[in-house]
Amino acid sequence: MDLFEPCVVGKVNLKNRIIRSATHDGLADEDGGPSEKLISKYSFLAKNDVGCIIAGYAIVSEEGASSYPRCLNYFNDSSADKYRKLTQAVHSFGTPIIAQLAHCGRQTSSKVIGMQKIAPSAKRHLFYPDKAARMSVDDVIRVEDAFVAAIVKAKEYGFDGAQIHLAHGYLLHDFISANGNKRKDAYGGDVHGRCRIVKEIMIKAREKVGDFPIWVKISATDKRRKGMRLNYAVEVCKLLRQYGVDAIEVSCGSVQDGMNTMRSKRMPMEAVFKYREPVASMPKFLNKFCLACAKLVNPLIPQPKPLQMFNFESAKAIGQAVDTDLILVGGVAKREDMIRAIEGGMSAVSMCRPFICEPNFARKLKEGKTDASQCVMCNYCGLVIEKGETKCLLGRIK
Ligand SMILES: Cc1cc2nc3c(=O)[nH]c(=O)nc-3n(C[C@H](O)[C@H](O)[C@H](O)COP(=O)(O)O)c2cc1C
Ligand code: SF4
Repeated sequence: MDLFEPCVVGKVNLKNRIIRSATHDGLADEDGGPSEKLISKYSFLAKNDVGCIIAGYAIVSEEGASSYPRCLNYFNDSSADKYRKLTQAVHSFGTPIIAQLAHCGRQTSSKVIGMQKIAPSAKRHLFYPDKAARMSVDDVIRVEDAFVAAIVKAKEYGFDGAQIHLAHGYLLHDFISANGNKRKDAYGGDVHGRCRIVKEIMIKAREKVGDFPIWVKISATDKRRKGMRLNYAVEVCKLLRQYGVDAIEVSCGSVQDGMNTMRSKRMPMEAVFKYREPVASMPKFLNKFCLACAKLVNPLIPQPKPLQMFNFESAKAIGQAVDTDLILVGGVAKREDMIRAIEGGMSAVSMCRPFICEPNFARKLKEGKTDASQCVMCNYCGLVIEKGETKCLLGRIK
């Protein structure tokens, strides 16, 4: 089994079966377009044998903005040339690049976005407690149109496809899931109603972009009450396939789940107390004291398991029921696991933290210089994004 053979996944020609999964890099410029530093970062990944890059999530409309600083967006036309420069730079190494499109819904702060945030139902978020307004049907149509406009732009800017973010607690995850969606109208009620917004995005997008590749990323499972469960996710994926989605990346979790989407043995307490508000801004002595206490109880806080290949069972179950290209993400960090995934029916594997830790990881694998990532999955990088640029902080937090 050759991981490095060129292949077609979700109608996109991949250089090999190893994908850099969407990773918010915190490197957009002031307008939300790719900065020179982001273009260099993606060029380095492409030059070093990544088979395909899924760009970090980009926001489709101002009301869906992220609370993370320097997040990409597609609503600012002044960024068009920078996006073209990005796709050309990555293509110069023969590597395709996919635009990931998102709307944060209630997983953001109204204060940061400068208007009241919106959601399928008016429900509070554990970490962003200001209340979201329940979306009217007009709001739903406006959000659909924003996704469609962003897909059209992704094609115009030279991306090889778009990936709609249906995972990790963002707006469309909330729509699909009975946890976030309590609606009784045409956009709720049952699996068809909850997925209707995605269906309408797909219908409108196909009218404008034809067979331009459109992928999705879903959380097949999460830990929310009445949230995503595997049997239900299989039904969702059947519908996604009917709507004409070209590939499904199988993830899990919601930001409200804590360390579920990206798992680690322990909560990264040092990083929590350094980067997450409100604790990060506590007076210094209090911050230090609380951190010491948190460290004592940390080993007792149960964490989701397993830590490796943690969406493989979900992805295989989806693969048994739905004829589609599947991409496995989550705790894939060893050559033997990548091979197991492909032999187990996945079209490709995707990785996030291994590439934050070693941006040349694919090259090292290809040249036989390593069989496993050096990332220890401490998740410090997952907290630093709340304040600035994404980086591997292993060993750097005292
Ligand atoms: C710093 C950081 C940023 C991330 N940004 C995104 C993102 O923009 N879009 C997305 O779908 N997932 C994002 N994720 C989740 C990853 O794509 C991936 O699903 C998760 O980390 C599990 O994969 P891994 O075990 O290879 O890290 C991010 C994760 C981290 C650690
Ligand atoms: S900080 Fe570095 S070692 Fe820790 S999870 Fe992130 S990439 Fe891996």
